[in-house]
Amino acid sequence: MDHFQLKNGVLHAEDVPLDRIAAEVGTPVYVYSRATLTRHARVFREALSVLPRIHLAFAVKSNPNIAVLSVLKGEGYGADVVSEGEMNRALAAGMPAADIVFSGVGKSRRELTAAVQAGIGQFNLESEEEGVELAQIAASLGKVATCALRVNPNVDARTHAKISTGKAENKFGVAYDRAAGIYARLSALEGLNMRGLAVHIGSQISDLEPSRQAFAKMGELMREIRTQGFPVSHMDLGGGLGVPYKGGEQLPTPEDYAAVVAGVTKDWDATIMFEPGRVITGNAGVLVTEVIRVKQGVNVPFVVVDAAMNDLARPAMYDAWHDFAAVRPTGETMVANIVGPICESSDTFAMGRTIDAVKAGDLGVFRTAGAYGATMANTYNSRPLVPEVMVDGDRWAIVAERIEPAAVLAAERIPDWLTA
Ligand code: LLP
Repeated sequence: MDHFQLKNGVLHAEDVPLDRIAAEVGTPVYVYSRATLTRHARVFREALSVLPRIHLAFAVKSNPNIAVLSVLKGEGYGADVVSEGEMNRALAAGMPAADIVFSGVGKSRRELTAAVQAGIGQFNLESEEEGVELAQIAASLGKVATCALRVNPNVDARTHAKISTGKAENKFGVAYDRAAGIYARLSALEGLNMRGLAVHIGSQISDLEPSRQAFAKMGELMREIRTQGFPVSHMDLGGGLGVPYKGGEQLPTPEDYAAVVAGVTKDWDATIMFEPGRVITGNAGVLVTEVIRVKQGVNVPFVVVDAAMNDLARPAMYDAWHDFAAVRPTGETMVANIVGPICESSDTFAMGRTIDAVKAGDLGVFRTAGAYGATMANTYNSRPLVPEVMVDGDRWAIVAERIEPAAVLAAERIPDWLTA
């Protein structure tokens, strides 16, 4: 459930009509609902409260805006970060360093050093090599880095290939069969405190059976490592739970997910950690866009909107579906292709879709744009970096300003030797 609903014929974010935000901030603009974020954070936590000990680390990559992080901090969430930049955002939002998990397959020496100095709560190591390097960095700083070993369980998450991470050929984690040996060797290193295992098999997961298999394999591995005499007190099960993108679509709920986790982990005697992203933020945001014009096509018209693949990359990258709705629907519908202004055909949001009828100057939204939306935006075609707004009841604020092309241009230089 989200808080983007029609009131008196106008699509609102909570109590704020979206056309008011568009008039003041311009379009395209992302709009987040604080109430929806809070609701999702609570539903997820409550579902998992059937487990004895949990730690929730919000996957910052899904929406790194510091206002969003601040809401989640208020809900008791820590963060799962994958870069120094994300770590600094989580810290800037006031999340305690101890509640932050540092994931990522290519943490640089600089990032590892910064994270050790910041006192990050857990490093999810992606290789033995990374563990050796981190041990050396931590020891040289006179610190101990608390770690989990990310394992590749070789389970197919049955999601889009580009967001699938748990098969043996994917770059993530260490091979399942090598994990116990690596864990033992890393446990011997001064500078590391090996305390757990981590797994994440993919994103937008719509079938919980692969997750169940992967978690069960992690349980077996945990027992093997404990039998060898090494403690495993923390098990990080990653993120990945999918959300409905199409009206009426049914996906596993947080309760379904919690039931699977509870079943597999009942005798684990470990703190179970989670890294949810999309399930918290996905339906908490929309991308508001204005129709530039409606252009005649061969079969159906092209609705050319002022949002493009640089603002919302998911359709171009993963053929992802985002529902489109008019901000002031007339009740009429049309069949159209929805496209952005960028000069490539992948800048397409929908083909031959039945949508609310719109004309030039009308406003519309792409729904379920709160996760992997603004965070993946760029300035391709020298377009502005899209702004973000958060709504809270009848209040709203710009939480990320539009970065104008002039600001990007100002960072560029023509060297003297090109003009001499
Ligand atoms: N933990 C790890 C280690 C991850 O790699 C990810 C996502 C998450 C947690 C959070 O997953 P979530 O709960 O959001 O599914 N850009 C793509 C999604 C990429 C996901 C990358 N990793 C998209 O727009 O669909």
